[in-house]
Amino acid sequence: MNIFYHYVRLASPSVFAVTLLAGILLPQGAGAEHGSFEREVMPIIKDKCLACHQPGGDGYEASGLDLRTYDGLMKGTKHGPIVVPGDAFTSNLNVLIEGRAARHLRMPFHGKELSKWERHIIRLWVTRGAKDN
Ligand code: HEC
Repeated sequence: MNIFYHYVRLASPSVFAVTLLAGILLPQGAGAEHGSFEREVMPIIKDKCLACHQPGGDGYEASGLDLRTYDGLMKGTKHGPIVVPGDAFTSNLNVLIEGRAARHLRMPFHGKELSKWERHIIRLWVTRGAKDN
């Protein structure tokens, strides 16, 4: 486990560079305005979170967080909201996916962390008001 972790750490600078380059080149080429929930945030959630965060999934059963819709995301967990519109620093959503939480609480749960670009998009969306756009 530890060896694997160090391997991932060592490998990550190149992964980071590729991700960053793709992030700079691809979206600008498409000429798109970033921070859309429907177009950019939801596809990440579908890919990386939804399997566990819908009724029947481990994440939903443990926390009550249903990520199938914008309303579900904004409602948050059984303890309350995880998104503070305009404030990605204190939003639990960002804290958990950016590795700022205790290891056992980071998301995706026991999974591969989101790419730099995915984290950036979600941060941008929250910073711009977490709109249903
Ligand atoms: C493999 C299953 C799995 C995946 C994938 C997953 N989660 Fe979770 N999630 C869980 C479980 C299990 C919990 C409950 C953890 C606990 O309370 O110990 C949880 C809890 C949470 C919580 C609440 C934490 C708290 O403070 O109570 C949030 C927010 C969350 N997940 C967000 C996400 C996001 C965002 C993603 C995608 C990037 C994601 N999860 C992907 C299983 C998963």
